[in-house]
Amino acid sequence: MSNIIRSFLFVPADSAKKLAKAGGLDADALILDLEDAVLPVNKSKARKMCAEFLARTKTSSQIWVRVNPLDSEFIDDDLAAIVPLSPAGIVLPKPDGPVDIETLSRRLDALEAKHGLAAGAIKILPVATETARAVMSLALYPRTYLPRLLGLSWGAEDLATDIGALTNKAADGNFAFTYQMVRSYTLLAAKAAGVQAVDTLYDDFRDKDGLRAKARVAFGEGFTGMFAIHPAQIPIINKSFTPTEAQIRYAQAVVQAFKDNPDAGAVQISGKMLDIPHLKQAQNVLALYEGYGG
Ligand code: COA
Ligand code: MG
Repeated sequence: MSNIIRSFLFVPADSAKKLAKAGGLDADALILDLEDAVLPVNKSKARKMCAEFLARTKTSSQIWVRVNPLDSEFIDDDLAAIVPLSPAGIVLPKPDGPVDIETLSRRLDALEAKHGLAAGAIKILPVATETARAVMSLALYPRTYLPRLLGLSWGAEDLATDIGALTNKAADGNFAFTYQMVRSYTLLAAKAAGVQAVDTLYDDFRDKDGLRAKARVAFGEGFTGMFAIHPAQIPIINKSFTPTEAQIRYAQAVVQAFKDNPDAGAVQISGKMLDIPHLKQAQNVLALYEGYGG
């Protein structure tokens, strides 16, 4: 998997100040938000500012746009305003499942053709768990042909609202079981579909240690990246989702041990048994590292 995006920073597209700041940050991707961070009265202004940003800003970050949901009154204008400026991708909120990704893909096919853009260039990242129906459809992603699908991400806020929950937190402050389960299921669905698994945001943006701990665990579990809501979260996320030097060295040693013993299915390093799953894990770590251009 190449072109792995570790950090996706949400930037409300109606905020000139935040847009100005966003261009100079080192997020792997920016998500200019037209949806929940923008009030209905400001949608049209946000759309214009978003288009302007896409047209003018020189940044090393990929520029993505979170549009409004497919069944909203805003989606036609959102797509008409931004697609001609070829964003790297569209974040789709509140899809009901892969059928909505197919619908968006067809709309992008038509708009790319109309504006003379490369067919299929614009990727899609759904927030795949914002309704109960969407959660029940996660298993369909690996069985649906979705060439624009970059990954699957998940969110706990809208899902809680959708199922009539009063909170998404357990007594200890962590996500309640339902949301932990949805998170794991998103990870598995993404891996089964062969796409990136993007963890949800950490909302206490002043708590750097808390973010670092969560991000590091998520990387260890197989997530490839995470949403950010504040600039201070970006370096922490980028670092947490990059294999450490020790992890890379160890992976290189594992690969070497198998190379040195071409006829063996099991080898050892310092008295620790290693077989084929360990080799594949080591190869995954090195592939991830190469995916960042490392
Ligand atoms: N993108 C770009 N710049 C941002 C930013 C973001 N998401 N969040 C904060 N900044 C900027 C601020 O404008 C400020 O800039 P300055 O140094 O020029 O003054 C600087 O970073 C420090 O910000 P700070 O004062 O700590 O926070 P704030 O009160 O300005 O903003 C939030 C706090 C939560 C409102 C803001 O981080 C935010 O809007 N986050 C994204 C929200 C969003 O998109 N939600 C929808 C998806 S869940
Ligand atoms: Mg939302």
